[in-house]
Amino acid sequence: MAKIARYPSLLPFTGKVDGPTARAASAAPAKQDKDHALWREKSLRRLFTIGHIEHENELEQSTRDHIVRESMEVLRSNDRGGYTVPAEGLYPFQWNWDSAIVAAGWAVFDELRAWKELETLFSDQWKDGMVASINFHKFSKTYFPGPEIWGTPENPSKTSGISQPPVAALSARFMYEHTAHPVEAKQKIEDLFPKILAWHRWWYKARDPNNTGVVAILHPWESGMDNSPAWDESMTFPIDPTLPPYERQDLTHVNANMRPTKDTYDRYLTLLYRFKRENFYDPDKLYEISPFRVTDLCVNSILFRANRDLRWLALQLGKTDAVAEIEGWLDNGFEGFKKLWDEEAGLFKCQDQITGKLEDAAISAAFLPLFAGVATREQAARLVENLSTWLKHVKYSVPSLDPQDPRFEQLRYWRGPIWLIINWMISNGLRHYGYDELADRIRNDSIELTNKAGLREYFDPVTGDGAGGTKFSWTAAMCLAWLDRNAVIAIGHKMSGHKDYLN
Ligand code: GLC
Repeated sequence: MAKIARYPSLLPFTGKVDGPTARAASAAPAKQDKDHALWREKSLRRLFTIGHIEHENELEQSTRDHIVRESMEVLRSNDRGGYTVPAEGLYPFQWNWDSAIVAAGWAVFDELRAWKELETLFSDQWKDGMVASINFHKFSKTYFPGPEIWGTPENPSKTSGISQPPVAALSARFMYEHTAHPVEAKQKIEDLFPKILAWHRWWYKARDPNNTGVVAILHPWESGMDNSPAWDESMTFPIDPTLPPYERQDLTHVNANMRPTKDTYDRYLTLLYRFKRENFYDPDKLYEISPFRVTDLCVNSILFRANRDLRWLALQLGKTDAVAEIEGWLDNGFEGFKKLWDEEAGLFKCQDQITGKLEDAAISAAFLPLFAGVATREQAARLVENLSTWLKHVKYSVPSLDPQDPRFEQLRYWRGPIWLIINWMISNGLRHYGYDELADRIRNDSIELTNKAGLREYFDPVTGDGAGGTKFSWTAAMCLAWLDRNAVIAIGHKMSGHKDYLN
């Protein structure tokens, strides 16, 4: 119980953490301890903090109502019976973090369906706890590499052999906190909790065997930011000369200038075949043999935040052993993040675990430690300085790469474009540290982008044009759960439960 008392406030956080006064105060001696205490003492802002959308005129109001209706329609049309595909054709299976984010979208208008999304995601959980990046529930020819290539235990595989950012605990908490059906929701949480816990344990066992507090990804696909320049230096291992010939399907759906190059794809497959040869079931072995082993900011920030939410759920369920275990991960994580800070750049960076070097690229995930609530106040201030400079070079926030980087490409997948899910996380994190103005700017840009370009996979930060897939599920979910919750409420669908959405 003593441990629980150290985290007194798990209520929605209402005060400002940061701002000039708070920053000055934190410059006092014993700063590290104070910073450490900061993440321990405060709960984070609610996942989907919303303010009122001031509709400037009738036209905008009706546009937003239209987008809300269309978002529900996109989720319904991408529903394959218990799971939602990210986009028809381009991504025909259940993707892990997509599904967890989409569950939050479903939750605002169909709670039962939202729980089902998470249940289906965990239905193919591996015995060792891993939840794979892709669950191949039904056959499809429109995606490569499909189940026949992955070659996990079953043939064809039921899942891919790697994981993706662990968002599920966040959605589970959100759904439990806002439920209209507390008794049923408690049951759902009772069932899901041990599965999510097992997955988080898997991350530490399989991807942090040396107990550094931060986990590795062994494939760029595991980060969710597949084609990020943060992997360029670590993706220079030799391409397997025995790679079987293959035909990419992504290029039949989307223009090649928006997608990874052939060279990059060859390396993705070099890793996949190597893992398959080394036997997917032995993660300890994979950790040792993978020529790609990187501490990624996206997975680690989400895992840290997910641990906080899992801890909150553990408290609701009275699982004190689990609370203590999760607190251990949080404490170690706080230490682990310290070595990802590049003081000169004023940014967090990913780290190549094989060479020990911080990756040079400044990517949007650099701001995700704000979402985790693991950044110190000084770090938050430097991040905000950097982000503000980035935004002088583009019209819309937040590009996936520093626009001043010569590798910046406004349309190529994770090398420049904007993803709404990352905008949501950064905006939520900024609000937590008290940078409301910047948080609002990101939210308003996101509204403008969807007004202008619709529910696209990602957006050009210079022109605001939509790119990649169309009728994209997680973009729709962001409109419902984050951007337009009050529009959802206005047109008659809403989650019940606590009404303090404004916190
Ligand atoms: C792309 C993204 C990945 C996402 C998937 C489905 O591969 O890089 O993060 O999960 O599409 O939307």
